[in-house]
Amino acid sequence: MKNTFLALILAAGKGTRMKSSLPKVLHKINNKSMIFWVINSLKHLDIKKYFIVLGHEKDVIKNHFVSSDEFKNFDQKKFNFISQKNQLGTGDALKVSLDFFKNQGENILVLSGDTPLIQEKTLQNLMKRHIETCSDITLLTANIPDSKSYGRIKRDKNKDIMEIVEEKNANEEEKQIKEINSGIYAFKTEFLEKYLNFIKPNGITKEFYLTDLVKIAYLENKKISSFTLDNFDEIIGINDKFTLSVANQKMRNLINKNFMLNGVILENPDTIEIDSTAEIEEDTVISQGTIIKENVKIGKNCKIGPFTFLKNTEIADNVEIKYSYSEDAFIGENSKIGPFSHIRPNSHIHKNVKIGNFTEIKSSTIKDNSKVSHLSYIGDAILENNINIGAGVITCNYDGKKKHQTKIGKNTFIGSNSNLIAPVNIGDGVLIGAGSTIYKDVPDNSLAIERSEQINKIDYFYKKQSNE
Ligand code: UD1
Ligand code: CA
Repeated sequence: MKNTFLALILAAGKGTRMKSSLPKVLHKINNKSMIFWVINSLKHLDIKKYFIVLGHEKDVIKNHFVSSDEFKNFDQKKFNFISQKNQLGTGDALKVSLDFFKNQGENILVLSGDTPLIQEKTLQNLMKRHIETCSDITLLTANIPDSKSYGRIKRDKNKDIMEIVEEKNANEEEKQIKEINSGIYAFKTEFLEKYLNFIKPNGITKEFYLTDLVKIAYLENKKISSFTLDNFDEIIGINDKFTLSVANQKMRNLINKNFMLNGVILENPDTIEIDSTAEIEEDTVISQGTIIKENVKIGKNCKIGPFTFLKNTEIADNVEIKYSYSEDAFIGENSKIGPFSHIRPNSHIHKNVKIGNFTEIKSSTIKDNSKVSHLSYIGDAILENNINIGAGVITCNYDGKKKHQTKIGKNTFIGSNSNLIAPVNIGDGVLIGAGSTIYKDVPDNSLAIERSEQINKIDYFYKKQSNE
């Protein structure tokens, strides 16, 4: 049992400053709730149980844990919800939780549901410092230029932490302190069991401040340590919608930085949004305005963007995609997509394929070296190798009731502006004359042309005009 850690996440507060009907911790950072990010930062740490303190709108938040798929990959057995009936402050939140977490583990990490940018590595460092120094409290602090709205860390002349002073309680001198409390701490559970009841309501706000534990520990000669961050981005606490937008940008920067450090080139990264779970290999370039949502895998040396949207898409090596949209698709090696292509669900694009401008592909397989370069709709089709689809070719897959399939054999050339009325099978080595409406199967190696004969009437237009 030695050195076991639990985690307590405070999320019962009303979030008045958000001015929102949505509970604060359900506001989104990079498409996921704040509370998701906090819990996600714990996922790979050795933490036995998570205790989540809920109060204001607790049913809405609890329901989010069940109905969103954010937590589906978590060990559900670790989650324990605690109800704080009256939101009497962070100290009270700890008090009502005590009966749940005491005797469950030696140490407890306490985090705020409104500090979603916290990184796993930092928590790891905090836990390590706590254990190595054998402290009763270890605080995560940071020096920040604008310390307003955070609790200030007051140190004595030996630089030992003696107290945390909240903005509302701080005098002018204390307000000048730049070292702040992140709201993230490690405690010895034993210390909390003994001293939580020492917290008295604050003289000004009447709230129970968890931060009062620091002064209590100092006066009782308990061991207080700290881990101080150089980069304070990750401990930004979100209390209003302006900070929410700042945090969104910072989260994007943190995620983007990780991709860049792992060998991905991001051009103009401020304009790029990538889901943190994306897998992107070395030397792939993502250029501006590109959005990569969940379940995306991209191989080596690809060029993605500008202005491309990807979701549930797997992309092999050396693929280029410009100004395009792809969802639920696979795109094979050396293929080129766009500009302005729309790859819709269940599309399998193999190697060296070209999908060009204003082309839509849906539920179709397009095999090696085939080209659909301009202005086409290919739906419910199987295209074999080395096919050339001319400009404006349409698979007419829908009869008003049902969808039907089009099959096209290898080495076939479909002339421009042809309509392929499904169900239809077009053989290998076929040539379809431009402008044909093909409604019967075409055998291998044939020419199919469906076109009324052209009539040229000499001088017709000139005569017509002179008769008028
Ligand atoms: C708190 C800290 C402050 C720190 C800052 C960091 C206290 C007294 N102050 O201030 O030193 O610099 O965080 O962001 O702790 N909550 C409950 N129950 C309650 C009240 C709050 O669960 O009764 C939860 C909130 O939902 C929130 C967290 O505790 O997730 C922090 O509360 P908040 O009111 O945002 O505290 P701050 O004023 O930001
Ligand atoms: Ca806060």
